[in-house]
Amino acid sequence: MKFVLNGQPTDIAAHPAARLIDVLREDLGLTGTKEGCGEGECGACTVLVNGEPVCSCIIPVAQVAGTEVTTIEGLGGDHPLQHHFMNEVGAQCGICTPGMIMAALSLGPAPTLDDVKVALAGNLCRCTGYSAIYRAIMKWKGMPLPEAAGSLVVE
Ligand code: FES
Ligand code: FES
Repeated sequence: MKFVLNGQPTDIAAHPAARLIDVLREDLGLTGTKEGCGEGECGACTVLVNGEPVCSCIIPVAQVAGTEVTTIEGLGGDHPLQHHFMNEVGAQCGICTPGMIMAALSLGPAPTLDDVKVALAGNLCRCTGYSAIYRAIMKWKGMPLPEAAGSLVVE
């Protein structure tokens, strides 16, 4: 199975029906991608395929043949959004965090808070209450936060 992984041409002898997340974590040793539900409902396993966020727990690796796959490792650990997540305490247990970050990368310039919520609608977090996550992303984009919008805005 040939595809480009984090910018590197990759050729892996995996069963075509193997889940992408298993190939990434077990065959290729990229354990940054997390598994939450394993059934396409939590977004913890989100990676980018040709720049689009997908749940790697529900697609067979055959589906990414010839594509460009990006995982959290592909950001190199020094991406500005990763720093904002750290600075805003947008991660607690951290299971959702790689998926949140990968999903946020699909946002265009100058998103509104609603845009951010929609982009991350498929990503669940059981720890943070989302405010810090939204704040990290808005700061990364250089966007102001609305002054008051219930519990989802934090000063
Ligand atoms: S682990 Fe893939 S969506 Fe939950
Ligand atoms: S930080 Fe624990 S699930 Fe989000």
